Amino acid sequence: MHENLTIIDHPLVQHKLSLMRDKETSTRSFRILIRETGTLLAYEVTKDLPLITKEIETPLMKMNAPFLEGKKLCLVSILRAGNGLLDGFLDLVPSARVGHIGLYRDPETLVAVEYYLKLPELIDQRLVIALDPMLATGHSSAAAVTRIKENGAANIRFVCLLAAPEGVEYFNKIHPDVKIYTAALDDKLNDHAYILPGLGDAGDRIFGTK
Ligand code: URA
Repeated sequence: MHENLTIIDHPLVQHKLSLMRDKETSTRSFRILIRETGTLLAYEVTKDLPLITKEIETPLMKMNAPFLEGKKLCLVSILRAGNGLLDGFLDLVPSARVGHIGLYRDPETLVAVEYYLKLPELIDQRLVIALDPMLATGHSSAAAVTRIKENGAANIRFVCLLAAPEGVEYFNKIHPDVKIYTAALDDKLNDHAYILPGLGDAGDRIFGTK
């Protein structure tokens, strides 16, 4: 068992994930499915958020009503595939603040190089939910979370669709304080660091680039 790993086994999530895995699923369907799955994952990942009560007035009387505590959530999309999950999260949490981070792997040094970073202000006071559909080696996701921490975030969760055991182990080692949420823990990586059985390249499948 992996520490800090939550598998979201809701039947709707599992059904939609199977449709996404099928290579015959069109770009259009894949895009709709990842968005819908993002919404379901958002529901699960936020289910323990703390509440405070505030007095409001209904048309009939005063009451102490529960509201989310603290500042608005911050969603961070790890480009580019993170955008597929982001849309679904925003359907459920439309007032969330949104950051983006883009990294590429230098082909010679294999080090993750940042090419884009834009984060909301007061990130140190927000719950940050980092989004990347595929936790494969874990290197780029862990590097992205390191940069988010360097910018002040202290309370971070990481959400993906699929995780490989290798990626979970690496990510956990670098960020033992960050909980990982996934729809499935797959078998392993192949020689090209693709998740098996997986769903292929998530970015290509969302954006129809292959
Ligand atoms: N990234 C993907 O999009 N797919 C994989 O299987 C691994 C990394």
